[in-house]
Amino acid sequence: MSRKDEIELKIKDETVKKDKKTQIEEMIEKNTDKVLKILRDKNYEIIEPNQKTEPEKITAAKKKASKKDSKTRVIGFSGKGGVGKTTLASLLLRIIMESDSPALLGVDSDPNTCFPDVLGAQKYQTLSEMIEKYKGGRLPPRKFQQDFNTLLLKNEQEGYDLLPMGKSEGQGCYCSVNNLLKSAFQEFVLKGDYSYDYVIVDCEAGIEHISRKTSSFLNDLVIVSDGSRMSVNTIKNIHKTSQGVEIDIDNTYVIANRVKSEEVLDEIKDLAEELGMKYLGPIPDDPELEELNYLGKSIFELSKDSPAYKRMNEITEKIISSGKKNED
Ligand SMILES: Nc1ncnc2c1ncn2[C@@H]1O[C@H](COP(=O)(O)OP(=O)(O)OP(=O)(O)O)[C@@H](O)[C@H]1O
Ligand SMILES: [Mg+2]
Repeated sequence: MSRKDEIELKIKDETVKKDKKTQIEEMIEKNTDKVLKILRDKNYEIIEPNQKTEPEKITAAKKKASKKDSKTRVIGFSGKGGVGKTTLASLLLRIIMESDSPALLGVDSDPNTCFPDVLGAQKYQTLSEMIEKYKGGRLPPRKFQQDFNTLLLKNEQEGYDLLPMGKSEGQGCYCSVNNLLKSAFQEFVLKGDYSYDYVIVDCEAGIEHISRKTSSFLNDLVIVSDGSRMSVNTIKNIHKTSQGVEIDIDNTYVIANRVKSEEVLDEIKDLAEELGMKYLGPIPDDPELEELNYLGKSIFELSKDSPAYKRMNEITEKIISSGKKNED
């Protein structure tokens, strides 16, 4: 056979292969249910509507390994509604970013997406918008990983990546965005596919993310409290709930934000220590922050001389160094 014949045959062969591939894909498309049954019988993992993505399938040991083995430090902000979670999470992200430009990811796990705005992010897509096209359908794990990669690339900001979760489980919607976020972390973000040094998570208000264990991928949990009775009680509730569900978080911290009364500050400090949490100190009510918010400016425009920036700078130091101690 001449070289020319050989090349022609090869081209023909590839054409046939390509056609076959398309044919097979079309066949699968038409017979999705049957194909899924075969895959399920062969123990392939398939994400389906209203099906929890992993709890049954990922063993406790595997979960632990993915968090402990990871070099990524995941820091979440929690507390009652309106206490300053998003503001302080953004400030932490900015200060860590300015320290030595580590690889950073900001995650907004609050369905009422505010974190990107406070950070001044320009264009971004949410996880729930990403899975919108699969609504009522099926999302194969490999496709999910590909789309997740694309989402992170699209959402890249100057100095950090961004992952807003978006609205969860609308009517007739696909499966819980929260569960997808959790499985994305356990299955690839913390397994070395992404080399983030820090992931900063702005959690939704309240304790549901703790009781449902959607925050189980956190290493550090920062609870923010203001001077209201309800927000102080939320510290207790978070503690009680996390003990109840045995969520495995390395460090739990408390920050008192905008608390004026010395008496309340003492109460928050004592409570944190009583519950075995680390009290990180107060952040004062800062008029510059208030003005920034009013003008719709990003946290990156807050001056380094502002009281909130200065205090958060010291607090960031404490958070980072307590993580280092744990690594030793
Ligand atoms: N130390 C501070 N000084 C002045 N204003 C502050 C301070 N901390 C937060 N704020 C302001 O308080 C408001 C609520 O803060 P933020 O949105 O961060 O709270 P949140 O806990 O994330 O609320 P939500 O539960 O709705 O997500 C914002 O307008 C913010 O600018
Ligand atoms: Mg918020």
